[in-house]
Amino acid sequence: MVIAVTNLKGGVGKTTVTTNLAVSFTQLGKDVCIVDTDLGQQSSMEWSGNRSEDRVRIPVFGVSIKQLNKEVADLAKRFDIVLIDGTPQLSELADRTILASDLLVIPLTPSIYDFRGFENFLVRFEQVKGLKEASGGMVRAFILLNRVVPNTKVSKDIEDAVKEYEVEVLNTKLANRIAYVDTATNGTGVLEYKDPKAKAEMKSLTEELLKNI
Ligand SMILES: Nc1ncnc2c1ncn2[C@@H]1O[C@H](COP(=O)(O)OP(=O)(O)O)[C@@H](O)[C@H]1O
Ligand SMILES: [Mg+2]
Repeated sequence: MVIAVTNLKGGVGKTTVTTNLAVSFTQLGKDVCIVDTDLGQQSSMEWSGNRSEDRVRIPVFGVSIKQLNKEVADLAKRFDIVLIDGTPQLSELADRTILASDLLVIPLTPSIYDFRGFENFLVRFEQVKGLKEASGGMVRAFILLNRVVPNTKVSKDIEDAVKEYEVEVLNTKLANRIAYVDTATNGTGVLEYKDPKAKAEMKSLTEELLKNI
């Protein structure tokens, strides 16, 4: 199973969601690796470098753009779940990421500035999905609302706005929590941290994705 966390926008939580899902699937006993396609930032790679050796190891691989499909397909034979940390660039790499994946999680934060990158991504997604289906493949996409601040107008507005798109929206939302910031710095996930609410939402996200696999 190949799950890409993608959006053509930086700072929406691609790396946060990727690394947290990796920890979560690992805790369910799955063999997991991450492919870091954000060549500019390589944040998943950095996250893994900060992860202490006494924790379950989650290998992070770099990519060669031309070989992405083959490399991901090879990793999918060795690991139960391959998580791709997406590139924010509108590029051949973004297209190849969609082609290489079974499922996409598209994080979106309650910010008007995020919508342009998101809409560009959806246009791209529909095109590549068409190509993939024409050759007998399949890819599904889900929007994940991230950094939600419950009971605020901005969060409510974005929840209404995403309903206008044809992509499904996950029931699970991630709140804006210090747990995500803190764990990013030491190579852990919120399931390895002390915040029960963050743990609960990450478990819920994992279960919801597993139901759709
Ligand atoms: N749910 C959240 N709550 C609080 N901070 C978050 C949350 N999701 C992401 N962040 C923070 O937002 C910033 C951007 O997230 P990141 O995962 O690096 O985005 P991307 O990979 O899309 O560029 C990071 O500082 C991260 O810690
Ligand atoms: Mg990132």
